[in-house]
Amino acid sequence: MGVKKTLKKIWNKISSSDRILVTGGLGYIGSHTVVELMEAGYDVYIIDNLSNSNIDVLNGIEAITGKRPVFENIDCTDYVAMDKFFSKYEGFKAVIHFAAYKAVGESVSKPLRYYRNNILSLVNLLELMPIHKTHGFVFSSSCTVYGQPDTLPVDERSPIKPALSPYGSTKQMSEQIILDAVHASEDLHAVLLRYFNPIGAHPTSAIGELPNGVPNNLVPFVCQTAAGMHKKLKVFGDDYNTPDGTCIRDYISVVDLAKAHVKAIDRLLDEKVKKPEIYNIGTGKGQSVMEVIKTFEKVSGKRVPYEIVGRREGDIEQVWANPALANKKLKWVAEESFEDTLRSAWRWQEVVNKNSK
Ligand code: UFG
Repeated sequence: MGVKKTLKKIWNKISSSDRILVTGGLGYIGSHTVVELMEAGYDVYIIDNLSNSNIDVLNGIEAITGKRPVFENIDCTDYVAMDKFFSKYEGFKAVIHFAAYKAVGESVSKPLRYYRNNILSLVNLLELMPIHKTHGFVFSSSCTVYGQPDTLPVDERSPIKPALSPYGSTKQMSEQIILDAVHASEDLHAVLLRYFNPIGAHPTSAIGELPNGVPNNLVPFVCQTAAGMHKKLKVFGDDYNTPDGTCIRDYISVVDLAKAHVKAIDRLLDEKVKKPEIYNIGTGKGQSVMEVIKTFEKVSGKRVPYEIVGRREGDIEQVWANPALANKKLKWVAEESFEDTLRSAWRWQEVVNKNSK
């Protein structure tokens, strides 16, 4: 642990710790972020409506940190309940807003559900924060806002492309809503983090990804296939313009991603964020679907049977990050190797399987 981090931890212990609200704090990225915030000495409060998460995640957080954060089951679209929550606890220095729907395919069939949930939650928070004197905001955005970028790696100045799904639209609209709200306010400060593809689990395997039903995302499906839960993985297309014909993504460890939030909060609380700041949070490297399968097989010692099928509608051919801005200004860098991250995903899958027996 660096000297600065240790000093911050000690300072937070002797002073009253800075209070941070995490919406969606029991979800996949949310729970890992809660752990990193608590380990950095922050006093974390969680709101989650459990629509895509599980109350048992609190036990995992407690097992890792030795402390159980305050949790309330509240839907962020419920303005009155949110207002009550802010009044009850008062004094949040910042909010990290994860609570949102995120299934791309489902958003195409249920667009209004996505707009209502993702947009209303955000607007409620941005309205309530100044009333309750909370000035820092960190938002979960996505590299989906770039669509298929014209140049790779993609940096933050790349143009926003038309969204390929209502989910993508909600992320683009949300970014704009935050920029407008900051512009109109004297004391709202925001950091927008554009995530690439988070994978893996906490090294303790006490928390990880818990997909609802059959996973849409590649790595959870690979893990479940290796565990014998599916006969075969479907590889969606091998005729893309990439070296092996399969799509390329920037897969980032969820723990590294979580740590980027701590850096963003540190920066907000140090009053370094004058204008809204937008950062790519990725590794800077791209891996193809076939590389994911082969590396997973190597690190897990398991076979992943697969078949090549047609392309999945709406898939981007290739995207990976230029994370230089986050490296420089947030002083954050993705540290875990691709192999270790896949290893952690597999270890977590083994724990989930053991617990379900
Ligand atoms: N894939 C398969 N088979 C599967 C699942 C996925 O071949 O069973 C392929 C996809 O076609 C894609 C790659 O694996 O080429 C990655 O797919 P994911 O579904 O894991 O991830 P996406 O990049 O499509 O989407 C994810 C998140 C979105 C986010 C986006 C940003 O799910 O919320 O990253 O790139 F917006």
